[in-house]
Amino acid sequence: MELGHPHGGKLVNRIIGEDRKSTLLFCEKEIELDRMAISDLELIGTGAYSPLEGFLNEADYLSVVNDMRISNGLPWSLPITLPVSEEKANSLAIGDDVKLVHEGVPYGVLTVTSIYTPNKEEEANRVFQTTDLKHPGVNKLFNRPNVYIGGPIKVFHQPEKKTFVLDPAGTREVFKELGWKTIVGFQTRNPVHRAHEYIQKAALEMVDGLLLHPLVGETKSDDVPSDVRMESYRVLLDNYYPKDRVLLSAFPAAMRYAGPREAIFHALVRKNYGCTHFIVGRDHAGVGDYYGTYDAQNIFSYFTEKELGIKALFFDHSFYCRKCGNMGSAKTCPHNSEHHVILSGTKVRELLRNGIMPPKEFSRPEVAAVLIKGMAKQLVESTQGEVNG
Ligand code: ADX
Repeated sequence: MELGHPHGGKLVNRIIGEDRKSTLLFCEKEIELDRMAISDLELIGTGAYSPLEGFLNEADYLSVVNDMRISNGLPWSLPITLPVSEEKANSLAIGDDVKLVHEGVPYGVLTVTSIYTPNKEEEANRVFQTTDLKHPGVNKLFNRPNVYIGGPIKVFHQPEKKTFVLDPAGTREVFKELGWKTIVGFQTRNPVHRAHEYIQKAALEMVDGLLLHPLVGETKSDDVPSDVRMESYRVLLDNYYPKDRVLLSAFPAAMRYAGPREAIFHALVRKNYGCTHFIVGRDHAGVGDYYGTYDAQNIFSYFTEKELGIKALFFDHSFYCRKCGNMGSAKTCPHNSEHHVILSGTKVRELLRNGIMPPKEFSRPEVAAVLIKGMAKQLVESTQGEVNG
């Protein structure tokens, strides 16, 4: 099995120097990118989405939606698309170079190779397994404009970072310097609680290092804000992890909440960052009850490990058991659920917002303290914003 190589064999790099920017800015047409597209642009540019060199053309889009592969056969599970309005699409032609702009700032250029109208019902059914608009990913899909533009991109400007973000070349460099040969990637959109810590450390028993890779792009509004989370990860690592075995770096992608398909996507992208292993636990990238608890693990059997090129490490639902006096899962704990400390994400967020510490068996107190403080500050700022604005 080939581990640690970028997907498709080489790390894509679509970043060009500021010096070449002026030649590209001559193109007259432009497309305004939304938050999801701007993060996709950055991730294509830095090679996090290797082998993609741009937004999907129609053939690749259909192949990804229907078969979870790009047209050359490589596994790829989420359509990375650039939606524009019909009016905008009518003003574009194949071969055009188009400036990609966000809030007035040009970030890159796309050469149009494909203009197509997707069947969004079909996309929603296949990618999210539902067309229910209450699903945040489906809602986003239907709220974006209706025509997709495909083509390779070049990026000359990257979004400002609020947090520490290494690109795939950067994480690979660090792994090399540290001499790590086997690295497990951990995706999260939440504060790290003790079940996360348990599965990360179980994985760390088997590999050289952990890439703690929290997603900090667009999430649904009730998820804990990324800057508060980043501070909580630092406190956790300082107190409970060996310093030389963990790299914390943010992952600037948007969350799709596509459950199983997003688990495959998360694994492939972490392979591009240099990971050899990837953790998939309970209801990975899920939301509500749209997916079965282990669907995101079962989907891996659709591919061979060789074609994915990264080893998925599966974990059962984990928890603290009061009777065992330690962490465990159905695989290791014989006691029934009345002894288990299990809280839903919604419940935990409610406790934190009200300044109440979750049980120490659920969350490290140092972490909970940072979250309570950070969320209270956010609340004050948002109330002030409402008053002022
Ligand atoms: S996710 O949307 O980023 O997947 P979350 O941050 O909750 O959500 O989960 C991060 C990773 O930890 C995922 O792989 C998820 O499956 C796993 N996970 C979360 N909670 C548990 C748990 N109690 N037991 C086992 N795995 C878990």
